[in-house]
Amino acid sequence: MSAPILRARGITRTVELPDAAPLHILRGVDLDVAVGDHLSVMGRSGSGKSTLLNILGLLDAPTDGELEFDGVPLQRMSAGRRDRTRGRNVGFVFQQFNLLPGRTALENVEMPLLYDSGRAFWRRRAIATDMLERVGLGDRLEQMPERLSGGEQQRVAIARALVRSPRLILADEPTGALDVETGAVIMDLLDDIATQAGAALITITHDPHVAVRARRAYRLAEGVLHETVPVLEADAIARTGGVA
Ligand SMILES: Nc1ncnc2c1ncn2[C@@H]1O[C@H](COP(=O)(O)OP(=O)(O)OP(=O)(O)O)[C@@H](O)[C@H]1O
Ligand SMILES: [Mg+2]
Repeated sequence: MSAPILRARGITRTVELPDAAPLHILRGVDLDVAVGDHLSVMGRSGSGKSTLLNILGLLDAPTDGELEFDGVPLQRMSAGRRDRTRGRNVGFVFQQFNLLPGRTALENVEMPLLYDSGRAFWRRRAIATDMLERVGLGDRLEQMPERLSGGEQQRVAIARALVRSPRLILADEPTGALDVETGAVIMDLLDDIATQAGAALITITHDPHVAVRARRAYRLAEGVLHETVPVLEADAIARTGGVA
C-alpha cells in the first residue's frame, strides 16, 4: 500500500440531545486511506455517512478515537493547523454543488486560491481557467452558476474542489441531484481527475452503480463501517431468477 493519507481507529461521534438519550452516530469506525485509493460508502439515510465524511475531512471532530492525517494525529493539531491542512489537502464535492450565486464560474473556482500565498494566489485566474477547461467548461468561464445546468454546476464544483490539487477528494452524493446519464459522466470525470492527480477519492452514494466503480466499497450501518460488494439490480435479478 502506498503512503497513507488517513488512518482512523475507533472513531466515534456522539451527540448529546436535550431531554433524550445521547445519539451514537458513529460507534467505532476504522479506515485506512492511501494515495490513489478510490473508496465508496453506502448506507441508509441517517446512518451517519455525512457525519463520517466531515470528520475525515477535518470539518468536524470525532467524540473519541484516533484520526491521523498524513501521519499527524488530529489531537496534536491546533485549530489553525487543522484548517490549513484541510485547505491544502482536502477538496469537497456536495450533492447541491454549493456554488456562490452571483459569482461567475471562474470566480467560484478561483475562490479557494484566495487563501494561497505566493504563486498560486497571483496565478489564480490562469489556474482556475485551466481547471474549468479540464472539466469541459472552458467556454463558460463568465457564466453565473444559476444559469448553468445541474451537471455543469457540478463540473464547476469539481473544478473548485480540485483547484488546489488536494490529495484527498471527499464527495457527498455528487450525483444525487443529477439524472443517471449526467451522473455517470460526472463520476467518470471525478474518477479521471482524481486518478490523474494521484488523489484519494471517497464517494458517498445511494447508487450501487456509483459504489461499484470504487476499488473498495463500504457500508455504514449501526455506526460501523464494513467492507462490502455492492449489489446491482441486474445481479439481484440474475440470482433470484427475476423473483423479488
Ligand atoms: N449535530 C447534530 N445534532 C443532532 N443530530 C445530528 C447532528 N449531526 C447529525 N445528526 C443526526 O445523526 C444522524 C446521521 O446524520 P448524517 O447526516 O451523517 O446521515 P447520512 O447518512 O449522511 O444521511 P443522508 O443519506 O440522509 O444524507 C441523523 O439522524 C442526524 O439527524
Ligand atoms: Mg448525508
